[in-house]
Amino acid sequence: MDNNQPIGVFDSGIGGTSIWREIHNLLPNEKTIYLADSKNAPYGEKSKEEIIRLSMKNTDLLLDMNCKLIVVACNTATTNAIRELRDKYDVPFIGIEPAIKPAAINSKTQIIGILATKGTLNSELFHKTTEMFQHIKIIEQIGYRLVELIENGQIESAEMTQLLHSYLKPMIEANIDFLVLGCSHYPYLIPQIRKIIPDHIQIIDSGLAVARQTQNLLKEIGFNNDNNSKPIFYTNTNPKVLQTILGNNCVVQEKDF
Ligand code: SIN
Repeated sequence: MDNNQPIGVFDSGIGGTSIWREIHNLLPNEKTIYLADSKNAPYGEKSKEEIIRLSMKNTDLLLDMNCKLIVVACNTATTNAIRELRDKYDVPFIGIEPAIKPAAINSKTQIIGILATKGTLNSELFHKTTEMFQHIKIIEQIGYRLVELIENGQIESAEMTQLLHSYLKPMIEANIDFLVLGCSHYPYLIPQIRKIIPDHIQIIDSGLAVARQTQNLLKEIGFNNDNNSKPIFYTNTNPKVLQTILGNNCVVQEKDF
């Protein structure tokens, strides 16, 4: 089945490009349009109502651009707004949730850690997921400031290193064997995190799972059969950090939204 409309992806900023990359690697023929709502980052500190409003604003714009499906490449927006999005719009949505399930199933110590935003850890959807694994001890940590530093291109700053040390130390001491990255920005921190945590602790994020879900959905709504256009990224702040992360094969444009 053919469907040459683009896939729409949105996030509170540049973090969701980690999800976009997995989608693009798995489905290189698909046209993609990405909205980086960096002006409103971080979503993780906002009220549920505000997260829903911003998610609907992004969705309206992607639908105006004729997208065939929408990937909510933000854990905070998924856990707080995906139900409302699915209720309001006919287009299919794919969300990203912290990969608690594979960590809980594979943990030998039965202790896992999760680093995520306040909005994700306090959400009803996250609580419902953790209730399914009551035999597992889950060490939760809010990643205060991490999204802002990533958005500002300060991934390797001294402040970042110091924050990561303080967030990860209690998890290491508690003997976790899995660390779940519950925010789409955090995969950019994996090189620093690897330097802090022991080798036996596995890090999981949900990027590949989202790409596979996207592929499955396209079996129903149709794959693109003639794409040779570059992926397009719109950001509502200075495009410099986004362009640096993505390189020159992607079109990055500043847009007011
Ligand atoms: C944020 O905007 O606070 C982080 C995005 C996410 O939760 O993936």
